[in-house]
Formats: sequence, structure tokens, C-alpha cells
Amino acid sequence: MSNTPTPHIEAKPGDIAKTVLMPGDPLRAKFIAETYLENPVCFNTVRNMFGFTGTYKGCPVSVMGSGMGMPSIGIYSYELYHFYEVETIIRVGTAGGLGKNVKLRDVVIGMGACTNSHYAAQYQLPGTIAPIADFDLVRRAVEIAESKGIRPVVGNLLSSDTFYNADTQAAAKWRDMGVLAIEMESAALYLNAIQAGKKALCICTISDHIFTGEALPSMDRQVSFREMMEIALELAK
Ligand code: HPA
Repeated sequence: MSNTPTPHIEAKPGDIAKTVLMPGDPLRAKFIAETYLENPVCFNTVRNMFGFTGTYKGCPVSVMGSGMGMPSIGIYSYELYHFYEVETIIRVGTAGGLGKNVKLRDVVIGMGACTNSHYAAQYQLPGTIAPIADFDLVRRAVEIAESKGIRPVVGNLLSSDTFYNADTQAAAKWRDMGVLAIEMESAALYLNAIQAGKKALCICTISDHIFTGEALPSMDRQVSFREMMEIALELAK
């Protein structure tokens, strides 16, 4: 593995588990490692994009921040898949609710990720590609959620290049096409996984609602965060 360390990850070969959980916030990665993993060891501090490897119920699992947006998760997931032999990346994040039946606190499993970004243009395909999650991860995530009494919402996300969008009609158009929630990373993650022949899934909790303007108080965020993490950790082991 002559490509390691990479420009963005200082880990040595073997420092990173085959499965990586990716929250957007590197401090959230540190919190997850310290709260849920046994014996976490930090493998990256470059740009403060912290990454840790530990075990969950005896199985090696890593957790690393992705940063915000597709360029950022695009870099980290590419390097993990191609240079650190990572097989599976599970994004754990928050999203803004779009769908009529999507409520605050819901856990959304991103079967697919629509996007307004040109990330896929690099592949020069003679058409458009549908960025989709790994089917086995989708199925197992649903099974794990249901076994815990959690009813996830499963379907399309929108991975947006903008958090503040000058086009105020855009969100309603995506909602009317059945898109459940808006976030900013999954499409790039799914495309990188597909191109590398690897696996990816995004699990989100709804932290705010685009049309009602509601937002979760911080205590409630922690409950839905815990549900999402319980699903992701069981999936990772
Ligand atoms: N837009 C984009 N990303 C988000 C949002 C949002 O409203 N909420 C949480 N992540």
C-alpha cells in the first residue's frame, strides 16, 4: 500500500477497520468512539478530521468524520476505499425532513441519493447514474431497526450542494418527486462505493423540517441519535 499515508489521512496500513462509521462532525466521531467502542485508538488528526479504531462487541470498527458536503466526504471515502482497504462505509448523520410523512426524530435509511451536484460527471457516463446504497446493508439496517422497535423510513435522500439555496422552490419539487429528506453527502459516498466495488449506506435522523421549520431540541436529538447509532453499530459488526 504505497499510497499511504494519503494527503488527508495519516493512518498506517492496518490501522483502519474494514467498516467505518462516518458522522459529518469529527468531534461526533470522537464522541462515538469514546461512548460506543472498546479500546478506541486515534488514527487520524490531519485537519482535525479525527478517526478512531476500536471494537464493538469484539468486532473491529472504525469511526471517522467526513466533513460537510460532497467534496469532503468524496475525498475521505475515496482514500478509505482505495488506499486503506475499507469495504463498508456507513454514514450516520442528520437530515432535514422533506416528505409529507417524514417527522422530526424519524430514522431515515437512504436507499438512494438524488443530487443537484455534478459529482458523477467525472465518470463521463452516456446518461445519468442512480446513486444507490448497498442492498444488503439496506435490508439488514431495516431488520435491525425493526428488531429494536424502531420504524425507519426508507427511500430517496437529496444530497444538496447548498445548505442555503437561492432557489426557494427547489425543495418542494424534490418533495413532490418522493424525496424524503435533504442532507449533503450521501450521493458522493454512494458513487464512490459503486465505482470502487465497495459498500455504503446512509442512516439519518431528522433534526429539522424544511417546510414546518420545526427543529429538535438537543435532548431529543440525543434520543434519535442513539437509535441511529444502535442500528449502525449492529450493522457494522
Ligand atoms: N439541509 C441540508 N443538510 C441538512 C439539513 C438541511 O436542512 N438538515 C440537516 N442536514
